[in-house]
Amino acid sequence: MKLRANVVFQIGSKIFGYFQRYSALSLSVVQNLLRFRNHLFLVLANAHKGQHPPALSVVRRHRQREHTRWGNSSPLPHTGANLKPALRCLEKTSMAELRAKEKNLCREMVLIANVSDYEELAKQKLPKMVYDFYASGAEDQWTLKENREAFSRILFRPRALIDVSHIDMSMSVLGYKISMPIMVAPTALHKLAHPEGELASARASAAAGTIMTLSSWSSCSIEEVKSTGAGIRFFQLSVYKDRNLVQQLVRRAEKAGYKAIALTVDAPRLGRRESDIRKQVFTLPQNVVLKSFEGLDLGSMDKTNASGLAAYVASQVDSSLSWKDFKWLQTTTRLPILVKGVITAEDARIATECGFAGIIMSNHGGRQLDYLPATISCLEEVVREVKGRVPVFLDGGIRRGTDVFKALALGASGVFIGRPLLFALAVDGEAGVRNALQMLRDELEIAMALSGCASLKEITRDHVSTESDRIRRSRL
Ligand SMILES: Cc1cc2nc3c(=O)[nH]c(=O)nc-3n(C[C@H](O)[C@H](O)[C@H](O)COP(=O)(O)O)c2cc1C
Repeated sequence: MKLRANVVFQIGSKIFGYFQRYSALSLSVVQNLLRFRNHLFLVLANAHKGQHPPALSVVRRHRQREHTRWGNSSPLPHTGANLKPALRCLEKTSMAELRAKEKNLCREMVLIANVSDYEELAKQKLPKMVYDFYASGAEDQWTLKENREAFSRILFRPRALIDVSHIDMSMSVLGYKISMPIMVAPTALHKLAHPEGELASARASAAAGTIMTLSSWSSCSIEEVKSTGAGIRFFQLSVYKDRNLVQQLVRRAEKAGYKAIALTVDAPRLGRRESDIRKQVFTLPQNVVLKSFEGLDLGSMDKTNASGLAAYVASQVDSSLSWKDFKWLQTTTRLPILVKGVITAEDARIATECGFAGIIMSNHGGRQLDYLPATISCLEEVVREVKGRVPVFLDGGIRRGTDVFKALALGASGVFIGRPLLFALAVDGEAGVRNALQMLRDELEIAMALSGCASLKEITRDHVSTESDRIRRSRL
């Protein structure tokens, strides 16, 4: 009986999830499905007389999911040892609210056609403080906007009548084969978006066959992310004043099977993000800590008058870090080290001479120094300087497969995505991140087909024209 109830519950939940996600159901169908699902809950509880640990864990898991999906505004009953009353209470008190929210969710889900759609939904769903922390840029946010706008000034020069019946977008990064040139940038504190945090992002990245870069300021630890299973992962390093601590972090990443270190060099101090400063409240909720630092007394931030994160960075991060420290960093690990945050030919030359294994061109998504040019606008200068000695990657403002194509055409070996994946995580957890990566992949595939490129190496500089190309041509 217990086994049957469990199986029925699992199947019922799966069917419900499927319909909810993939079809625009009428409200009455959704309501009936909801009733059916809640009924299964009760059957399960009865079967176990509310005392069975596996049943308890299924219900707890479900309860947590509901909590995430509907936000904190719909308090669900506490699930104690005796499930039955708790579940009856769930049935009675939450139904109306669930129905209304389910209706909205169904409407929303069918509206997602590209990764930017997730941002609007995440804005409705996340607490304002968290949305602003994710979305905002520094000061006037000029660079934040320019990261997007610069892509819109690059146009296509497609070639016709080329066999594009099979598109291959697989490639290698530092010797590791990945399914597409689209990777996951390091972003802090995924648990602010979703209770599964970086674990969900790691599973989604592995499922997409691509690389995830874990932030030093992740809310799941280096080891927890490893425990999600196979997947190629890089570790983003912020260098703290305490070098022993840095060494420990790097060694932990290496031991946990991460494949490279991405050293962030554009954040010796945190840029002024005025939305954080105005509200004067950016502190972590109690259940979110900088998990890789837990137990080292550096996992939490104090409340301060300005942004808690900025104060934390100012007190912990080593702003004296310089190129010469690279040699020391190399002594701490056998892993290849990428430099993240370079945008000029001068720095690209030094990085290559120092022995960095690759360059991630980044202006931190417009969150650090405002009035930096868009990364895509600096790409050719860096690629020209590096001359293929190390791979050059790029992040900042990539929201479309066409943006990825443009970056590849201008010489990038691949790109990293930041905010869109955070917003997708907030809206639909692991499934959201998977879907966002899949949409970018699909868009890139179409862009390649319509430009006449069947593989990544067929994408050339001649497939796009920049503003300066057009000015040059008009003068001829
Ligand atoms: C909320 C947020 C947190 C970030 N945290 C980090 C971080 O911990 N370390 C880091 O090197 N970069 C961090 N970044 C920068 C990203 O790695 C990446 O450079 C940027 O998000 C790319 O721009 P995009 O968001 O427009 O894709 C963060 C960006 C955002 C939006």
